[in-house]
Amino acid sequence: MLVSAKEMMQKAAAGHYAVGQFNINNLEWTKAILLTAEECKSPVILGVSEGAGKYMCGFETVAAMVAAMDKSLGITVPVALHLDHGTYEGCYKCIKAGFTSIMFDGSSLEFSDNLAKTTELVHVANQLGLSLEAEVGSIGGEEDGVVGMGECADPNECKTIADLGVTMLAAGIGNIHGVYPENWPGLSFETLSSIKAAVGDMPLVLHGGTGIPDEQVKKAIDMGVAKVNVNTECQLVFRDATRAYVEAGKDKVGKGFDPRKLLAPGFEAIKVKVKEKMELFGSVGKA
Ligand code: 13P
Repeated sequence: MLVSAKEMMQKAAAGHYAVGQFNINNLEWTKAILLTAEECKSPVILGVSEGAGKYMCGFETVAAMVAAMDKSLGITVPVALHLDHGTYEGCYKCIKAGFTSIMFDGSSLEFSDNLAKTTELVHVANQLGLSLEAEVGSIGGEEDGVVGMGECADPNECKTIADLGVTMLAAGIGNIHGVYPENWPGLSFETLSSIKAAVGDMPLVLHGGTGIPDEQVKKAIDMGVAKVNVNTECQLVFRDATRAYVEAGKDKVGKGFDPRKLLAPGFEAIKVKVKEKMELFGSVGKA
């Protein structure tokens, strides 16, 4: 059931669990995540970066695929189709294409510009019944071409953006996209605590979910994180399962080269990973 992320975010924040955002890249990814959400009776957010949108022939193709798949698979759990790290122009493209949720990432702009553009987009999203995620303080590393320095967010700026009435707020707390370096000091719970004190009930978003130790993820959820984004981890398990299939020579036996067979182990691996994350985030049975 395609919906905005508003209600699922409010319920998650009130219930002290988090909804997973899993980024999609193609049909297999989308199907694996939707089926797992249904099996786990969990709400879910499908994240689409601008790069992945382009890869899948544009946001209209993505929206049509997700809407049709949601229907043909008989998905009953709440599903939000969400633009990940959107530019100002990308947000309008996704709104037009039929996305139910958008993220405007103005974190690389001057704060006044981020504020002005977020203000406008909150107004547009509210009129259309869509959810909107804003960002303050950049997430480190690289997410499909979006590069951030990883500075912790300023709680006062977080409050200013939260007060605009955004649905959820991504605030940098030392998290990084992709695999964490060996010497990563961990999440800054001090920053998270000051942000939480400043923004009250606003659901917070933890980007860079790949590789954060489970205990830190759980603590962040206890402290107000209501959405956790995972991308790289699904890519890694897909890679590993596909590699194992090919290295075992299974693609050379019978019709093992059939793409439906070749992609099946990766598909199953994504399902296992998504289920594991939903259990960790506490969203199982919350649909
Ligand atoms: P990872 O690729 O580190 O899991 O981060 C995903 C993300 O934050 C998407 O916005």
